[in-house]
Amino acid sequence: MEKNTTNDFLMQIQFSTKTLAQADFDSVKKAKPALARLLALATDCVILAYGKADLNKKTPGSLLLELDVLLGGSVTRAKVAGDLNGKEASQCLLRAEASWLKAGVKAKRVLLVGLGDPSPKAGLSLQSYAKLAKATFKTLSGGAIESATWFVPSFGANADADTVVKQVRLTAQLAGEQTYRFGVRQPAMKFKAVEHVDPFQELLFVACKDTAKAVQVAVHQGEALVEGMNLAKDLGNLPPNVCTPTYLAKTAQGLMKKTKLKVELLTKKQMEALGMGSFLSVAQGSETPPQFIIMRHNGGKASEAPTVLVGKGITFDTGGISLKPGEAMDEMKYDMCGAASVVGTLLSASLLGLKQNVIGVIPTCENMPSGKATRPGDIVKSMSGQTIEILNTDAEGRLILCDALTYVERFKPKAVIDIATLTGACVIALGAVHSGMFSDDNHLLADLTQAGNDSLDTVWRMPLDAAYQEQLKSNFADMANIGGRPAGSVTAACFLKRFTEKYPWAHLDIAGTAWKGGAAKGSTGRPVPLLVNYLLAQS
Ligand code: BES
Ligand code: MN
Ligand code: ZN
Repeated sequence: MEKNTTNDFLMQIQFSTKTLAQADFDSVKKAKPALARLLALATDCVILAYGKADLNKKTPGSLLLELDVLLGGSVTRAKVAGDLNGKEASQCLLRAEASWLKAGVKAKRVLLVGLGDPSPKAGLSLQSYAKLAKATFKTLSGGAIESATWFVPSFGANADADTVVKQVRLTAQLAGEQTYRFGVRQPAMKFKAVEHVDPFQELLFVACKDTAKAVQVAVHQGEALVEGMNLAKDLGNLPPNVCTPTYLAKTAQGLMKKTKLKVELLTKKQMEALGMGSFLSVAQGSETPPQFIIMRHNGGKASEAPTVLVGKGITFDTGGISLKPGEAMDEMKYDMCGAASVVGTLLSASLLGLKQNVIGVIPTCENMPSGKATRPGDIVKSMSGQTIEILNTDAEGRLILCDALTYVERFKPKAVIDIATLTGACVIALGAVHSGMFSDDNHLLADLTQAGNDSLDTVWRMPLDAAYQEQLKSNFADMANIGGRPAGSVTAACFLKRFTEKYPWAHLDIAGTAWKGGAAKGSTGRPVPLLVNYLLAQS
C-alpha cells in the first residue's frame, strides 16, 4: 500500500479490507478452510478473538480446536502453560514454529484475544469490545509488528450487521488513537519522539462474504474519522505561538485544496459591520487579529437545511485582565479544541462524502491582558443587540460564541451544536469521562447521546432550566457574563441559550474531555468521534 509523504495527510496507519469466500464459524465444515486461508496471508500477526466458552469446546469445527490442528499444537501448548484463559481483553501471542510452515501458515504470529464471558443474549458489549481492542493495539504497537490482520468474524459469529459496523468503525478509531504521533505528523516541531515512529502501520480487516460490504463501508468511515481526529489533535497540540487564529484560518482554507470543502473568512471590517461587539471585545487585547471562519460541506441539496457546528477557538486563554493563576496555564493552548473538533469533523464529513449540508463556524482569537484589553465592568453590545456586562474577562468563551450563534441564524439551520472548552466547573462536575451536554431539544439530546454511546465518546445531560438564568442578572446591562461559582457550567450554558432561540440547539462543554494533562498530556481528538457518528446517523 502506498504511504503518504506529505505532512498534512500523514496517517500513521493504513487500513484495508479483504473478503474470505466462506467463513461461517457455526458450520462445522467451513471453519477450517476459512482459518487456513486466513493464516496463509503474509502478515505479521493475525488477531483472533475467543471466549471462555471456546476454551473447552471439543466439537470439530470450533475455532481453537481447528486452529490448534493448523498450528500443530501451539494452542494446546499455550493452554498447558496457562497463557490461555479467555479473560476479557487478555492477550496470548503465539509465534511461528516449524510446524506452522509445514501447514502452509504464512502469518508470523497469531494473537489470541479473550472475549471474556459475554452474555449469550446481549452479546459482547461495545465497552467490552473497546477494552479488548485497546489492549490489542497496545500489544501490536511499538515492537517488530508492522502489519496485522483483524479477523472480524471471530469477534461474534452471531453479531448483526449493525453491531459489526459499529465494532469495525470503533476498531479503526482505536487503532488510529494508538498510532497517532504528534512528532511524526509535525516534523517542524522536531523533538526526540520523532525517532519513536510506531512500526505498526497496517491493519487489514478480513470479513466473510455476508458482512464484507458492511465491513468495507465501516473501515472507510473509520479511516475518515481518524483523519478528522488526527487533524483536531494536531491543532490542539500545536503550541499557541504556532496555532494562532491566522493558522487556524489557513489550515481550514488549506483543506479546500484536498477536499470539496468551501471555506470563507470574514474580515475584521465585516465583523464590525455585523456588530459582533462581544467577540471583538475579547480579541481587542491581543496583537494577533481575530478570525471568523466559515466552512461548508455541501453534500445535500442546496435547499436542504444544514447542520451547523460552532467551535470555540480561543488559541490561548490567559484569562485577560482577570488573569489566570500560572499553574498549568500552558494547557490553555487547548482552549481552541472546540474549533479543532469542528475543522476535524468537517474534514471527515467531506472525506465521507456525506449526503447532507454541514457548516462549521469558528470565532477565533486570543484572550490576552494588555492596555487595550477589556476591563471587568466594561459593557459590550452583542450582534443580537443584547448588552453584556463583563464582570470577569476569563469568561470569554461565551462572549465569542454568542456572536457566532447569532450569525448562524442566517443559515436557517435544522440544528446547531456548539462545542467549547467552556468551564472549569464542567471538569469538576463530570471529569474526563463525559462531555457536558445542554439542550432542550429531545431529538438532539437523544441523537447526541446515541452517537456518543456508539463511538464511546460519551455525553452526559446537564440542566438548562430558567431558574439558573437568575444568576446572570446585571444591574447595568441585559446580562452579566458570569453567574457566580454555583453551577458554573450551567450558567455558562444558560448565557448561550439567550442567543439560540431561533433554532434547535445543543451545547457541548468539552473542558474535561478535549485533552489530557499530566504525563500523558495531549489532545484526545474528542468530540470528533461523537460528531462524525452523529452526522453519519443523520444520513
Ligand atoms: N477556557 C476556560 C475554561 C477551562 C478552564 C477549561 C480550565 C478547562 C480547564 C474558560 O474560558 C474559563 O476561564 N472559564 C472560567 C469561567 C469563570 C470565570 C466564570 C472558569 O471556568 O473558571
Ligand atoms: Mn477563560
Ligand atoms: Zn477559555
